[in-house]
Amino acid sequence: MPSDAQTRQSNEAWGSRIGLILAMAGNAVGLGNFLRFPGQAAANGGGSFMIPYFIAFLLLGIPLMWIEWGIGRNGGRFRKGHIPGMFGAIWKHPAAKYLGVIGLVIPLVVLSYYTVLMSWTLAFTWFSITGDYWGLTTQEQMSGYLTSYQVIGDGSVHAPWVPIFFFVLSLGSTIWVLSRGISAGIEKLARIGMPILFVFALVLAVRVMFLGGGENGVSPVQGLQFIYQPDFSRMDEPTVWLAAAGQIFFTLSVGMGTLQTYASYLSKKDDIALSGVATAATNETAEVVLGGSIAIPAAVAFFGVAGAMQVAQSGSFNLGFVSMPIVFQSMPFGQVFGAMWFGLLFFAGITSSVAMATPIVAFYREEFGYRRETVSWIVGLVAFCFGLLSIFWFEYGFIWEWDYWAGTFGLAVMAFVEVVLFMWVFKPETAWESIHQGADIRIPRIYKFIMTYVTPAYLGVILLWWGATEALPFLRLEGGRGAGGAIPEGGEVYVHVSRLLILAIGVFFAIMVRIAWKRNRYDDRAGFVEVEDTFLGTIPGREVAR
Ligand code: ALA
Repeated sequence: MPSDAQTRQSNEAWGSRIGLILAMAGNAVGLGNFLRFPGQAAANGGGSFMIPYFIAFLLLGIPLMWIEWGIGRNGGRFRKGHIPGMFGAIWKHPAAKYLGVIGLVIPLVVLSYYTVLMSWTLAFTWFSITGDYWGLTTQEQMSGYLTSYQVIGDGSVHAPWVPIFFFVLSLGSTIWVLSRGISAGIEKLARIGMPILFVFALVLAVRVMFLGGGENGVSPVQGLQFIYQPDFSRMDEPTVWLAAAGQIFFTLSVGMGTLQTYASYLSKKDDIALSGVATAATNETAEVVLGGSIAIPAAVAFFGVAGAMQVAQSGSFNLGFVSMPIVFQSMPFGQVFGAMWFGLLFFAGITSSVAMATPIVAFYREEFGYRRETVSWIVGLVAFCFGLLSIFWFEYGFIWEWDYWAGTFGLAVMAFVEVVLFMWVFKPETAWESIHQGADIRIPRIYKFIMTYVTPAYLGVILLWWGATEALPFLRLEGGRGAGGAIPEGGEVYVHVSRLLILAIGVFFAIMVRIAWKRNRYDDRAGFVEVEDTFLGTIPGREVAR
């Protein structure tokens, strides 16, 4: 029998297939596509980055997409929209639920700092409309402006309440959408936000191609050549391969715990094979075609290829926040284009940030019977408190520590655990069959081999390499450097606090999972009771293909 908590929570489902794809694409398409990707591509040599990038997409991204949709939909059979439950559904062992805790920690941590990054985009949309940074036309001046915004104690440009105000607006809008539910909130946002985002991106990409260039007078087409011309000269550098894999995880949102939650609201009659690959393809179009055609060509036109690389290496978001505002100032209607650029980033961000909160909301609704609205606003309050740490301790690299441990290394760890559980514990045959239930396409068989052997091996190598070359040295603060770079005098304590907090969040969720399992009298070895497939036909106007 379903427990009390299970019966009390209302059914939620996607309203339509197109809505689902847009929401999934909205989940994936984010700041990663338009800010992180150009930054990573430029910093790692453009054409030399793209080869490992596509290999990672084919061998890690696409397989993990299917695996996560599979894990999620399988969890949905037992009304489990959170990773501890989904892992428990696959592996009937008491440890499974605790392994799943990582799938609650990552989305909460990422949500907390991601909404801070989003708040910068919202603030810069406003600063573009009002022409606040107009007149700052050199990299030095623009970088100073950005830093002064980011470092809250530095009130030289804006009062300290300004960044907090934009953070409250960004997080508040995320939570408001979330509190409205899957179909009326998240899906509706995607239906509005995704088309706007694509139109803005298209307009900007076309506009950038007509840039005359700054003092360099370089054609923006050289920027496209820089990315798209294959360059094999740096293929032997592990850092380029690691950066490419890290970008694939982040941009597709694999390893974040969010795609699974979205997929848990699907029925076993729904297709996930085609939808999964459609989501990945939409994300890659947004990233490589659109994301690659804005910030890099614009920076190359103004600062040349070497200059653009330098901007990217000087800070992950500098292409978007430093060079783009300089470019806008040289254009007629620059304020409009500036607002479009930062507005596009905000839309990309919010469709991802709502996704990050969903696993936690699902956990509390399903296991404790809380109302969606209540738990959404509580998650918002917690994310607000953590987000303030990213704001107030920005100069100590707090935000970059969280981005590294949860948003980079953590994703690979989670992906590794998932692939092992789904392909090895669940067994390749069951996994393959499960992905093909209700499928509109047959996935090429080679992918069964890739998912069983290549993806886990690839992930294993990445984790070992990352562990040895980055994670361990960062952990030990070798050379006075943390994940955010050189730690300023007296800053070590903040770095330690950031890491201990992640651990503490893990312990907290582990305790919550234990309480939930006891409360609902789950028997790990027996597994969960399958709930009736109520997702189809119960939601008015639902038109999911069967
Ligand atoms: N996948 C999301 C992004 O690219 C998190 O920003």
